Amino acid sequence: MEETTLVLIKPGGVERNLIGEIVRRIEARGLRVVGLKLMSAPKALVQEHYAEHKARPFFKDVVAYLTSGPVVALAVRGENAVKAVRAMMGATNPIEASAGTVRGDFALSIDDNLTHSSSDVKAAKAELKLWFSEKLPR
Ligand code: PPS
Repeated sequence: MEETTLVLIKPGGVERNLIGEIVRRIEARGLRVVGLKLMSAPKALVQEHYAEHKARPFFKDVVAYLTSGPVVALAVRGENAVKAVRAMMGATNPIEASAGTVRGDFALSIDDNLTHSSSDVKAAKAELKLWFSEKLPR
């Protein structure tokens, strides 16, 4: 089934010039980029994005990380895009991520895990609304 999911390239990924590599992998897989923006994410937006984790001990750290520099927000569309992108990014903690995934190839630490991608279709819908208030192409 065709789905659209949100990918964020976090400040560490932008800083390390990984925008092209991550977009290349997404496109090479056969998924389509239907929205793309480089931005300094407002703190309120990041807090809302991670709202479900508000009570967790890392909440402040993850908000600080996401607002520490520019991020790239991508809307990615294709067959089973949510699951496909999650698998391509690898386990949330890079030390557990398989080689061949973005985190398994380029990251070592959970506090600099390079990307975010929506966990399921419901989350993807809500997150896309948050990061892309403008209409995405059909
Ligand atoms: S997941 O994928 O939602 O099940 O992961 P979870 O372990 O629940 O973590 C939720 C998000 O918080 C980030 N996280 C952290 N960021 C910085 N420092 C620490 N210690 C930390 N622990 C967890 C984790 O990367 C998840 O964010 P995203 O953006 O989805 O990767």
